Amino acid sequence: MNFLKKAPARSLNGVALLRLDFNTEDEWRLEATLPTIKFLEKKAKAIVIVSHRGRPEDLALKNGQPLKVPQEFSLRRDAKFLEKALKKKVHFISHYRFADIKEEVFGSPRGSIFVLENLRFLEGEEFNDLKLGKDLASLADYFVNDAFAVSHRKASSVVAVTKYLPSYVGFELESELKHLGHLVEKPKHPLVLIFGGGKSHDKIPVMDSFSKQADYFIVGGGVANTFLKVEGFDIGESKADENPSPKVKKFLKDKRLVLPLDYVQSGKKILDVGPLSVTHAAAIISRAKTIIWNGPFGFIENSRYTKGSLGIAKAIAKNKKAFSIAGGGETVMFLKDKKLDTKFSFISTGGGAMLEFLAGKKLPGIEALRHSKK
Ligand code: 3PG
Ligand code: MG
Repeated sequence: MNFLKKAPARSLNGVALLRLDFNTEDEWRLEATLPTIKFLEKKAKAIVIVSHRGRPEDLALKNGQPLKVPQEFSLRRDAKFLEKALKKKVHFISHYRFADIKEEVFGSPRGSIFVLENLRFLEGEEFNDLKLGKDLASLADYFVNDAFAVSHRKASSVVAVTKYLPSYVGFELESELKHLGHLVEKPKHPLVLIFGGGKSHDKIPVMDSFSKQADYFIVGGGVANTFLKVEGFDIGESKADENPSPKVKKFLKDKRLVLPLDYVQSGKKILDVGPLSVTHAAAIISRAKTIIWNGPFGFIENSRYTKGSLGIAKAIAKNKKAFSIAGGGETVMFLKDKKLDTKFSFISTGGGAMLEFLAGKKLPGIEALRHSKK
């Protein structure tokens, strides 16, 4: 793999196509990639930034123009954020007429920065369409992936594009590979995995892949609800997996599984774990040497149900001897909000990507960088 950090300056002289992930409610993922942008600003002729946000259903295009990109999906606000952060003009491009974009980019003064509208309005992006990869590649001389969070998706701007351009690993992605890679190889014990949030179907496979190494699996939120449901408890209208994996049964017999001891409920819904659960989990966390956390323990959108997650976060922050990692959009946003993110050894920008990486899967975006055009 070619690491941006080690690339000879002459190979970075042309236009850079930079893949980022703007897919969070706030700007933290973007902030994490500022070092790469600032570095390229000095080295490259121009930077063309591409990203996605959300999963828009309406992919209609007319003459290379998105029919209408609703504000919630538009990357205009990210371009504005960058403008402030970099203290310079950032050109936002709201169409996909590649020949016109190419002309504008290659004709621009040195150091120009462009942000292209949400790629998920382009048919083909999510199917790793080769033609789209080629079109994107036509906008630049080389490609940089600094979007770990989307590297588990086989998309044109993540995979196909690397066939047509020499490709580099950005600083943020490099840091993810280093920190998470180290964890997969030789974690120190006790190793404590903590999983909450929805989507337990994403988390059970990770638990399973750590089943030889982990010392504890502490679960809360929708993940815990799924265990309760399979065990036969009436969880009312609480969030849980519709089709729980058969592995859930296996884990229910595992002594290392730590289920909540008490709950905070409203009507028929479990909305947080209770104080006993936090005390119990905190005792385990205090002895850990390695901690991996993904997914809140309650419905943190409502401040009344944040106590469980806050208790977990504080317990991890307090353990200064452990190597601690947190990931996932909601979890990290919560930690930033509570100013506890800096107490972790590493904050991963990946949600699904972090889980798949930790589960030992090969991520298409990272494999593509290994085999990119030379
Ligand atoms: C994420 O938020 O996990 C990434 O941006 C990927 O988004 P997706 O799950 O919609 O593909
Ligand atoms: Mg997400």
